[in-house]
Amino acid sequence: MTASVAATSGLGGGAIPARIRPASRLRGGPRLPGDKSISHRALLLAALAEGESRIDGAGDGADVRSTAGLIARLGVIVDRRPGDGPGAVAYRLQSPGAGQLSEADGVLDCGNSGTTLRLATGLLAGLPGYAVLDGDASLRRRPVARIIGPLRSMGAELHARQGDSLPPLTVVGHTPLRAVELTTPVPSAQVKSAVLLAALRAEGRTTVRETLETRDHTERMLRARGVPVERLAAGDAEAPAAVAWSIEGGARVRAIEEHVPGDVSAAAFWLVAAAIHPDAELTLRGVGVNPTRRAIIDILRSMGARLDEIPTRIDDGVGEPAAELRVRSSDLVAVDLGPADVAAAIDEIPILCLAASQARGTSRIRGAGELRRKESDRLAGIAAGLRALGARVELTGDDVTIEGPTPLTGAPTDSLGDHRLAMTFAIAGLVARGETTVSDPGCADVSDPGFFDVLEQVQA
Ligand code: S3P
Repeated sequence: MTASVAATSGLGGGAIPARIRPASRLRGGPRLPGDKSISHRALLLAALAEGESRIDGAGDGADVRSTAGLIARLGVIVDRRPGDGPGAVAYRLQSPGAGQLSEADGVLDCGNSGTTLRLATGLLAGLPGYAVLDGDASLRRRPVARIIGPLRSMGAELHARQGDSLPPLTVVGHTPLRAVELTTPVPSAQVKSAVLLAALRAEGRTTVRETLETRDHTERMLRARGVPVERLAAGDAEAPAAVAWSIEGGARVRAIEEHVPGDVSAAAFWLVAAAIHPDAELTLRGVGVNPTRRAIIDILRSMGARLDEIPTRIDDGVGEPAAELRVRSSDLVAVDLGPADVAAAIDEIPILCLAASQARGTSRIRGAGELRRKESDRLAGIAAGLRALGARVELTGDDVTIEGPTPLTGAPTDSLGDHRLAMTFAIAGLVARGETTVSDPGCADVSDPGFFDVLEQVQA
């Protein structure tokens, strides 16, 4: 078998499809981008913290750059330079502090990034000034009612297109906001984080409950910056909740230096690549293994993946735990995932579907409707792409059923301009017979600009 990956193109239209041939073996230590979720938050919190913040090992995908660009428009001095490792960047940020941020003189462009748009809205809701947040065609199709409802209940003044459901979104900042007790309308770390950021500027104590637990980076990172965030016991019969968080308004966010671990959502592609390939051994270093993000590791293990984890940074509840992950060719078995698993592995479901197509038995993923509201309709996109390669995938409403194992045959696949679909189909190409093509591969730049280089390196 020979392996080749055609050159990728830039983001957006006119992209040349990537061509992927099966790999005879996979070896090495794929370099990972800094965690995207943590990088966004480190930048936004630096904007709120007066003085100099430093971020080391930040992700350098287009999404994180959107957040860096946004805070620069608010008056933060942003200095971005190459970091220690390839792909990681270091930021030095000088902020005048929350109360002194300026009103941008134009639209705040969030690009493709839902996290930028939703978290920045929460941050801006309690600051003086007027802001318009917009993004690309994909972002303009993504729901914002889920943040408008909770933030309005805090006294925020927000408007959006199509009956307050779609971007562009405008914020007329009000200080102070009202503290509230609420349950997020959907299990979403973006919604929870928007409320927590607004709660910093509210009078009194805000409590946010979620019915299914989502990533807790904002909570940890606020604590690391001196803001007490309490984790409360689960809800009662009237207000069932997996978890609740409580925060007192008015706390000062301190400027700190932060090291961002490798992105476990980017690692997921290499974990699955090695697990489904017949001759593979890959080692991933410095991977963030936060308990609210590590579901992909535990799910793959439950499917029989030969995956070893060596902790390199322990979990103290404030910082982010990290580990080295070693993964080898495996005989996978089917898995049954429910809504709590979907919330915990929300960004890894596409690549898990590929794993399921190579696993023995019938895999089920139930209650995955949120995937339809991502950068594309990921349920439709993954089903179409994997079926094109010969996988047996059924969609019933928001449930997915996959029969495996099915040998894949190379074919054209459509990424729909969605980074996680493009990377999933590229990994599928490593095990499919013949040539697989992936449309608009440049969209991988949104989260992992080095992805296609690493795809070549691991085959060398
Ligand atoms: C993110 C939360 C998730 C995830 C996204 C990043 C975050 O979105 O899909 O890629 O950083 O908070 P939702 O909170 O909308 O599920």
